[in-house]
Amino acid sequence: MDRLYSLSKTFIFSLLLFLSCVADAAFNVTTISFDEGYSPLFGDGNLLRSPDGKNVRLSLDRSTGSGFISSDLYLHGFFSANIKLPSDYTAGIVVAFYTSNGDIFEKSHDELDFEFLGNIHGKEWRFQTNVYGNGSTSRGREERYHLWFDPTRDFHRYSILWTADNIIFYIDEVPIREVVRSEAMGGDYPSKPMSLYATIWDASNWATSGGKYKVNYKYAPFISEFSDLVLQGCAVDPIQQVPAAGCSEKDAELESADYAVVTPERRMGMRKFRQKYMYYSYCYDTLRYPVPPPECMIIQSEKRRFKDSGRLKFGGNHHRHSKRRSRVSPRTSSDHQANI
Ligand SMILES: *[C@@H]1O[C@H](CO)[C@@H](O)[C@H](O)[C@H]1NC(C)=O
Ligand SMILES: *[C@@H]1O[C@H](CO)[C@@H](O)[C@H](O)[C@H]1NC(C)=O
Repeated sequence: MDRLYSLSKTFIFSLLLFLSCVADAAFNVTTISFDEGYSPLFGDGNLLRSPDGKNVRLSLDRSTGSGFISSDLYLHGFFSANIKLPSDYTAGIVVAFYTSNGDIFEKSHDELDFEFLGNIHGKEWRFQTNVYGNGSTSRGREERYHLWFDPTRDFHRYSILWTADNIIFYIDEVPIREVVRSEAMGGDYPSKPMSLYATIWDASNWATSGGKYKVNYKYAPFISEFSDLVLQGCAVDPIQQVPAAGCSEKDAELESADYAVVTPERRMGMRKFRQKYMYYSYCYDTLRYPVPPPECMIIQSEKRRFKDSGRLKFGGNHHRHSKRRSRVSPRTSSDHQANI
């Protein structure tokens, strides 16, 4: 008995040790206050800053949503925030955290998205990531996922790393998606300076089950909180769009940062996340892309989980999706995604 006890104690101890080695420490990032890097974008009355500028609340009510934008454009960067999403009934609501230059390059814009898609009571939030380059709006690169935690209870860090060679979407310290630049992607890989945007808006006609569930203003205001904001990268003047001196230095800084390195542990975390929580991938949607776009790395064990429509075979989302979607707000991330 004693021996068994001490054995199990040893086992638990080594397990804890193992876990503590695998678990990553938080990224070493420098946070800035709202006024140091951002400006209100729309719905000013629904944007509330804490006195120290470290926390921003964006709300959506019957009159308007709200949003903010980085004061500079960035040529490559690490864009990150601790975010807490609205709770209760959030159908039809989109909270977006994304980079774009759509205001400057209408026909040839670049964009990297986190879009949180609300949900009806009792159902968890879902979200998607997307990548557009040089106006590739007819080639959506959506992936959709569930989360492993309740994003309305606590803050979690959501980050987008964009370098000349790759793009990584992170949740906390887990990379959930990596797009490695390839020659074949051409202009589809974002290459022009982008701003960071954070918005909350009414997307009743597509966000939740393809528009089946609308925003219910009985539950308003819907509040999303952003804190511990991070902007790293080469700031570019929004008017001149000429990189400030020292861009290569900033690039080198980005590329050597902790978050630029996908360690074996992180790669394992990414694989696990995608095995368990991804429920749609354009790479496996062979009805849409008979030949997967060039950056797709087809992983057979992953592919087996999906039908030709890129949706899960089992236990996935069984909702029907409307066939149409129209533009709702002029100041949000792209809504030209396919009907998934
Ligand atoms: C965190 O970053 C700062 C500068 O960006 C650096 O001076 C410091 O040594 C870093 N800390 C760790 C633990 O790496
Ligand atoms: C971007 O698109 C424009 C047309 O809108 C095209 O002329 C240009 O060559 C493209 N750039 C790249 C890098 O593909």
